[in-house]
Amino acid sequence: MEKRPLFHFTPESNWMNDPNGLCFYKGEYHIFYQHNPENCYWGNMTWGHGKSKNLFDWERLPHALKPDSENFGDIDGCFSGSAFVEKDELYLFYTGVKMLTKQKNEFGNTITIGLNDLAPTQILAKSEDGINFEKLQKLSLEIPEECCKAHVRDPKIWKKDEVWYMIIGARENSQGEVLVYNSKDMENWNFLSKIKEENMGYMWECPDLFSVGEKDILFISPEGVGKDEQKNISGYYLGEFNYETGKFIHEEFERLDYGFEFYAPQSFLDDKGRRVFMGWLVNHAPLPEENWTGMMTLPREIKMKDGKLYTFPVEELKKYRAEKLQEFSHLEKAKNMYDFEIVLENLENFQMLLFKDQEKSLKLSYSKEEKSLVLDRSEVINSFEPLKTFGTIRKLKIDGETEKKIRVIADKSVVEIYINDGELVMSSVLNPTSCQKGVEVMGNILSKEIYTLKR
Ligand code: FRU
Repeated sequence: MEKRPLFHFTPESNWMNDPNGLCFYKGEYHIFYQHNPENCYWGNMTWGHGKSKNLFDWERLPHALKPDSENFGDIDGCFSGSAFVEKDELYLFYTGVKMLTKQKNEFGNTITIGLNDLAPTQILAKSEDGINFEKLQKLSLEIPEECCKAHVRDPKIWKKDEVWYMIIGARENSQGEVLVYNSKDMENWNFLSKIKEENMGYMWECPDLFSVGEKDILFISPEGVGKDEQKNISGYYLGEFNYETGKFIHEEFERLDYGFEFYAPQSFLDDKGRRVFMGWLVNHAPLPEENWTGMMTLPREIKMKDGKLYTFPVEELKKYRAEKLQEFSHLEKAKNMYDFEIVLENLENFQMLLFKDQEKSLKLSYSKEEKSLVLDRSEVINSFEPLKTFGTIRKLKIDGETEKKIRVIADKSVVEIYINDGELVMSSVLNPTSCQKGVEVMGNILSKEIYTLKR
């Protein structure tokens, strides 16, 4: 179990994908997640569950939702959704699915034969103790005629001025979109509008809409839009949401993370008024010798500054900074558990080698020709093919002439890199050998703060 991260949420065992139902309930944080209780590959979608007082020490709880009801229509899967807390009650909204055709895949999991052979139902469940959930009802919502009925999923619910709002991922003629509804009773939903854009993929998954400061922010995870080897990406639109019409006027799409496998982020508001989210760092198979697949990003807080969105690890992470070191070379003993920040005069001659042994490393360097930061993980894959499917190089356009702050958090088999306090982020899952733990940083360094991380 050498590679299991200690600060990034992972399932106790088996497969995990999207974060679901993130919320703060009766003094504790709750995380739910798409889980396959049977094995390390996608299937049998069940809601895993954990809770925590500080977003890092998670207590594991029994599964919250199981795919077990013909009546509710979730017999073949409890897909993604969200939570809503009201008067000491915890509500979960999710997509139940029934598969209209079935076959077993190579891992023994049941999947449909055709991509559209899915019948989704939006379902409401409730808990009074935050542990046991009762499925309450199927939601009544009209899906516009022109939408593909098989692909309506991942409801996110919130409340404003005594009215509930829901957005849900959908597709129409191979174009992704979200459908917007409102409701006075959580059960009957009126269709308000569609939010969509040209050339933004064939399906929008896991939408989320919320405000930070003056801005409304829409998270979407469009399928079939990415360049590189990563076709499904996640990001956001900044804009203004009209609660009367459900229309959303927005700026250009931006990525939340320019690394390799970030997907399906979901946010929630905590008791401190912070907007926090986690995304899923996709991996389609367990790392060698491990019995779990998939991890979440660090919990990240969102802030707006000068009209721009910044995301950075919640401050609680700093409590785990253990020893302060003077030199990067001393980090070797931290065994890839560290958190450091440097200020660079500019990006000229900048190069950072992480997860380094005698010959190989993860490289972050500045390319003057391409005016880009280049993250190259090809030497820390160590023949683990599933990581290669997302590619080994990412390039991020950035000017190299001005001062830059770079924070790096390494956690065993994952690294998160924050540029300028979270103006830009790059994350990567890795498969280092036990010898790959050195750190070297070159460039015009103005200052540095180096810490080991400890549980
Ligand atoms: C996103 C997603 C969701 C769906 C869930 C199924 O990764 O495809 O749209 O609800 O995963 O596990």
